[in-house]
Amino acid sequence: MSATITEHPLITRTAEFIREKFLHEGSGHDWAHIRRVWQVARALARDTPGADTLVTELGALLHDVADWKFHDGDEEAGPRAARQWLESQVAPPEVIARVEAIIREISFKGLGVATPMSSVEGELVQDADRLDAIGAIGVARAFAYGGHKGRPLHDPAVPPVTHATFESYKQNTAPTINHFYEKLLHLRERLNTPAARRVAEERHAFMEQFLQQFLREWEGEDVASA
Ligand code: ADP
Ligand code: NI
Repeated sequence: MSATITEHPLITRTAEFIREKFLHEGSGHDWAHIRRVWQVARALARDTPGADTLVTELGALLHDVADWKFHDGDEEAGPRAARQWLESQVAPPEVIARVEAIIREISFKGLGVATPMSSVEGELVQDADRLDAIGAIGVARAFAYGGHKGRPLHDPAVPPVTHATFESYKQNTAPTINHFYEKLLHLRERLNTPAARRVAEERHAFMEQFLQQFLREWEGEDVASA
């Protein structure tokens, strides 16, 4: 996918602001993640009649600007930081409100918690963000995040949990493999657009294959049968 930057000056300035802020981030929420989400959301918007590209692109660029995961669980840190940035750029109040809503609604909050988006632009950004959490890149990001948080790769004695509330999901410190069963394997069913669902098929199958092989090696089954 090309890295061309849209002509709109607000997009260009926002991309530069986020690029500088996230260039050296090491938890899987780096600029490359945000850039991919931006490009994919933009491609989805092109195929979605009525989607506002400015709101979609700003939502994608700012969606992880101050994630609760890195701000003591503060869910308002992201919407607040996005508003501050857009106000500093004198963006139209209506655009600010719509982007702020996307950032407030986008995050996965536990398997038992529904996360509907209130706008079509939000649905596109959420799909783009979720596509980047599955497949080969999803696997890499999950372990980058787990390493960043000092989590073990796997522990068969700790079973996956269906988090029924956002609070319970937030407090989770389980091994990284559990995250596949608690979130990543369920994202395919939670996408909003047919285009994203099509892309998800191969990525989902790859993750399943990865898990199968991981658990096989963990138990030494491949060695035993060699
Ligand atoms: P979301 O807002 O839906 O959580 P993000 O864009 O913030 O999405 O990205 C979350 C990334 O961090 C994903 O790649 C996800 O797999 C990873 N991640 C989040 N929580 C965990 C966890 N407990 N273990 C491993 N990876 C995690
Ligand atoms: Ni993200």
